[in-house]
Amino acid sequence: MKSIKVNGGKKLNGTIRIDGSKNSSLPIICLALVPDKAVINNVPNNEDVLKMIKIVSSLGSKVEYKDNTLYVDNENLKTGDVKNELAKEIRGSYYLMGALINKFNEVKIASPGGCIIGKRPINFHVDAFQKIGIEVIENENDIILKKGKFKKVQINFEKPSVGATINVLFSLIKNDFETILTNISIEPEVIEVIEVLKKIGVKIELINRTLKIKGTKIVKDFKHTINSDRIETGTYLALGSLLGNIKIERPNIIDNILVIDKIMEYGAEINIGSTITIKENEFKHIKIITEEYPGFPTDLQQIFSVLMLKGNGTIVENIFSNRFNSHLELQKFGANIEVINNLALINKSELRPAEVNCTDLRGGMSLVMAALLIEGESVINKVELIERGYPDFVNKLKKIGADIEYIN
Ligand code: EPZ
Repeated sequence: MKSIKVNGGKKLNGTIRIDGSKNSSLPIICLALVPDKAVINNVPNNEDVLKMIKIVSSLGSKVEYKDNTLYVDNENLKTGDVKNELAKEIRGSYYLMGALINKFNEVKIASPGGCIIGKRPINFHVDAFQKIGIEVIENENDIILKKGKFKKVQINFEKPSVGATINVLFSLIKNDFETILTNISIEPEVIEVIEVLKKIGVKIELINRTLKIKGTKIVKDFKHTINSDRIETGTYLALGSLLGNIKIERPNIIDNILVIDKIMEYGAEINIGSTITIKENEFKHIKIITEEYPGFPTDLQQIFSVLMLKGNGTIVENIFSNRFNSHLELQKFGANIEVINNLALINKSELRPAEVNCTDLRGGMSLVMAALLIEGESVINKVELIERGYPDFVNKLKKIGADIEYIN
C-alpha cells in the first residue's frame, strides 16, 4: 500500500501537461494484436497501461514501449490463453476477448477487475458475443470464448456501454456479414476506437447510436496517436478552479464542452486556446447529473464534488450503482455530505486535515484535491489506485507548487 503526505492550503501556480487517454489506450493496445504490426503514440505511462503491456507481451507479441510510443509486432503471438494474473486487476483486459477471437478459435481469460464503483457485470458483452456465433463459457474465475460460424444479426444494447460496444466491435473485425448495433455508447473513447478500426480496413457507418459494421479478411497494420485524456483534463481544470492559476498543455477540449461549461458556471476564470489557463475565482452552487456522453461524465463527479465543499452542490449518479464511497472518505476531512441512494447533497464545510484511504481511481484523486485545499498535513493511503489513471500525478502536482510527497 502506497501513501502520500499533503501539506495543504497553498495556492497552486504553473503548467500541467495532459497525457494520452487511459480509456482509449487500453482497448487500442488490445486492438494492436489483430494486424501484423502497430505503432501507437501518446500512450500514457500509468499503471493500468503498464499492466496491459505486460499481459499482451505474455501472449508472445513483441512489445516495445519507449517515450510514450508503443511498438507491437505479432509475429510470435502464439496463444489466446491469457494466463497472466494481471488480467484480473484491470477492467480493460476484457478487450482481449474481442481482439483475440480474431486470431484464435479459443480465447481464455480471467474475469476482469476494475474500480469498485458498484456492480461491474459483463452480460452485455457475453449476450452479444453469443448472438454473433461465439460460444461463451463463464466459470467462477475465468471466461472461455469459442469461435463459431458467424451469423448475420442485429444487436440492440439494453443501455449504452463503453466496454460492451468496443468489445463487440472487436469481435466483428473479420465478420464479413454486415452487422447492425443499436443503442451503442458514443463516448469519445468509442469514437477513437472506431477511427482505428477504419484504419485497419473495417467498414463502419455511425448515425446517432446506430452503427453498421462490415468486417475485413485483410487486416491492415496501423499507426495511431492517442487523444489527450479528457478525464485528466477535467481533473486539472477542477483543481485550477479550486486552488490555483494553472496552465494546461495539450488539453482535450473537444470532448469536454460540458465540463468546461460547468467550470464556467462554478465561477472560475478560464481562458481557452491551444492551452487552457484556469484561475480560482468566486464560486457558485453547481449541480451535476451524470449521463452517458455527451452528458456529464461519471468519471468526473467525484472530482467535482470537491469544488462543492467551498460553496455547495448536488450530485446525481446515473451510471454506476455505487460511486459515493470516496464521499464517505471526504467526510473524514469534515465534509458536510449526505448520500441518499444515487444522490449526494454537499454543503459548505469546515474542513480539517485527516488520514484517509483511496477507494478507487477518481475518488482517490478527489481526496488529494481536498487535502490540497485544507491547511495542515493530511495523509492519503492506497494511492496506487490513483496511479492507475493519473500518470506521474505527484510530480505533476509538485511542479505547480503542491507540498506533496510519498511517505512509503
Ligand atoms: C468505462 O467502463 C470506463 N473504463 C470507466 O472509467 C467509465 O466510467 C465508464 O466506461 C463509463 O463511461 C474503461 O474504459 C476501462 P460501461 P465500462 O460498460 O466499460 C453497466 C475510470 O475511472 N453494464 O459503459 O466498464 C455498468 O455496470 C473508469 O477511468 C452492465 O450492466 O463502463 C454501468 O452501470 C471507471 N453490463 C453501465 O453499464 C455490461 O455488460 C456503464 O458501464 C456492461 C456494463
